[in-house]
Amino acid sequence: MEILVAYFSPTGTTAKVARMIADEVKGDLFEIKPDKPYTEADLRWTNPLARCNREKLLKKDVASAQKIVNFTDYNVVFLGFPIWYYQEPNIIDTFVKGYDWTGKDVILFATSGGSDIKKVTASLQPLIKGEIVSAKLLNKTDNLSAWLDTLAL
Ligand SMILES: Cc1cc2nc3c(=O)[nH]c(=O)nc-3n(C[C@H](O)[C@H](O)[C@H](O)COP(=O)(O)O)c2cc1C
Repeated sequence: MEILVAYFSPTGTTAKVARMIADEVKGDLFEIKPDKPYTEADLRWTNPLARCNREKLLKKDVASAQKIVNFTDYNVVFLGFPIWYYQEPNIIDTFVKGYDWTGKDVILFATSGGSDIKKVTASLQPLIKGEIVSAKLLNKTDNLSAWLDTLAL
């Protein structure tokens, strides 16, 4: 069983959770980074002209700096990100569109300022030709092991 833990985390919160998951499931970690990194100003959503708001409004694709060359080797892919505007950030959609997900079990996880992860599965399922097994908000990680156990990897 080959497991990948891919994550986007411009301010580091989701990255911590991704590392915990990778440790527990003995998966390979991959950080999804935009080819142009987000600055603090880019993420200031209170500014209507900030990059994050422009990308959201214009439904922009956000290209990643690196490609996973051995993606086909993985049976299980954890995909983590911060919740942006109640959903997955655009870069996640662009990332997902760049690979063939056929036959893979996909597990989504996210961190947020309080919003839930409920809208995300419906939004990503059309792009993922594979099974979304679970989607979990992990603002708290005290029940992380118990949740991973339920996935029976
Ligand atoms: C552009 C942007 C939009 C956001 N939208 C939401 C939101 O809709 N709901 C929410 O609870 N948090 C929202 N947040 C907060 C992040 O989800 C939260 O801080 C997350 O843990 C950051 O993860 P990271 O450190 O891995 O980037 C938003 C943050 C940014 C930068």
